[in-house]
Amino acid sequence: MSLLVKGGTVVGPTGTRVADVLVEGEKIVAVLDPALTSTIIATPAITVDEVIDASGKYVIPGGIDAHTHMELPFGGTAASDTFDTGTRAAAYGGTTTIIDFAVQRTGEVVQDGLAAWHAKAEGECHVDYAFHMILGGVDADALKAMDQLVADEGITSFKLFMAYPGVFYSDDGQILRAMQTARENGAMIMMHAENGIAIDVLVQQAIAKGQTDPIYHGITRPAALEAEATNRAIALAEVAQDCPLYIVHLSASQALEKVAEARHEGRNVFAETCPQYLYLTLEDQLGAPGFEGAKWVCSTPLRSKHESHQRDLWKGLRNNELAIVSTDHCPFCMKDQKELGLGDFSKIPNGIGGVEHRVDLVYQGVVDGKLSLERWVETIATTPARMFGLYPQKGIVQPGSDADLVIYDPNGTTRIGVATHHMNMDHSAYEGVEIKGRVGTVVSRGEVIVADGNYHGRKGRGKFLKRGLSSYLM
Ligand code: URP
Ligand code: ZN
Ligand code: ZN
Ligand code: ZN
Repeated sequence: MSLLVKGGTVVGPTGTRVADVLVEGEKIVAVLDPALTSTIIATPAITVDEVIDASGKYVIPGGIDAHTHMELPFGGTAASDTFDTGTRAAAYGGTTTIIDFAVQRTGEVVQDGLAAWHAKAEGECHVDYAFHMILGGVDADALKAMDQLVADEGITSFKLFMAYPGVFYSDDGQILRAMQTARENGAMIMMHAENGIAIDVLVQQAIAKGQTDPIYHGITRPAALEAEATNRAIALAEVAQDCPLYIVHLSASQALEKVAEARHEGRNVFAETCPQYLYLTLEDQLGAPGFEGAKWVCSTPLRSKHESHQRDLWKGLRNNELAIVSTDHCPFCMKDQKELGLGDFSKIPNGIGGVEHRVDLVYQGVVDGKLSLERWVETIATTPARMFGLYPQKGIVQPGSDADLVIYDPNGTTRIGVATHHMNMDHSAYEGVEIKGRVGTVVSRGEVIVADGNYHGRKGRGKFLKRGLSSYLM
């Protein structure tokens, strides 16, 4: 089966040009100057089965969401998207690869946690998928397991938590040991950087005062405690011989400042932010009347609109202090899930769903003149591929790469809402938001899986990707 994507404007991290993309089977075989295409496809060796007209549209590499939590158990419930529903929604939104987080809890064997995650995902995914590993119990066995996962399992990044004492939390000694191990085996340490010990004190004090509404989730997780943890993680990574460190879901200016400082020193320190931090705020969403704010309870929390966080995050995306936009997709329905925290914000399961909207939401940065087209593609596809060992199989439109393509219509529009989204959520974090731009055709390994809003993929077609080491290591 071969496919010609004709006349589109191909966008990559280094430039933009009108070109035809020739796909043979699962791979891109040529990116052609349109003046040459007719001669080349006239050669008897080449037959084109299907032509997609992409004139007036962007042709970009399929989105890579490097941070999702399908079916994550949390706070007595589990994230409401399965690998089936979540990866189908991802496909609709132009994301053709996800990197989800397998979980090891304290006392569990790391490999058992990984096997459990494979069992959840296998045969269920609509797009390709890979795993990071959450280490919730760093001990001698877990450190040994890190080596084995890197060597044999294609798992080359490990997430640790400075938050959630008693659940996922690692102390500084555990973090340092994991970082030393990663420095040796080439893996990336991903950090949930919030001072969870101090946060728990603030949470208990708030509840004792009767401050139980969702907004207190944000108020008890101040930016200073994100910045402190980010700084501490950076220091520990320095002590671990500059172990590569990736700060996840960065939300606060003060934390970004710490990352920027380390990067200016030439350190192996990277960070991502998420669309919720670029668009939503403590006051307008988390502070919505009654229990409504529960929809936006996530950690790190949404930040105050009266401070400069959103402006600084966009600036960070422009100057590469922030390398990637991931979603941290972790949806919970209001009914029976978020409602667990009625009368006590600390019992609201943490997470926002957004895997379907990342490509569109970051594109608004282009519309608003905050990002270049190239930077859009870089932050949603190319850099995630390079950062997490999937490049050049993924993240770029070039010969030899997987034919994961999104044909994006800059003249289309998208209205986000629960009535039209495909995620398994009974609400939308972005209800009513109007996007300038629209995901048109989505191609995953040479197969058209979305066309004009219609779904042509199927569950089980997505393959597990064993990842290599990050291309970013010095
Ligand atoms: O609130 C969040 N972010 N939920 C998902 C788990 C995590 O910490 O990434
Ligand atoms: Zn986290
Ligand atoms: Zn800077
Ligand atoms: Zn997360």
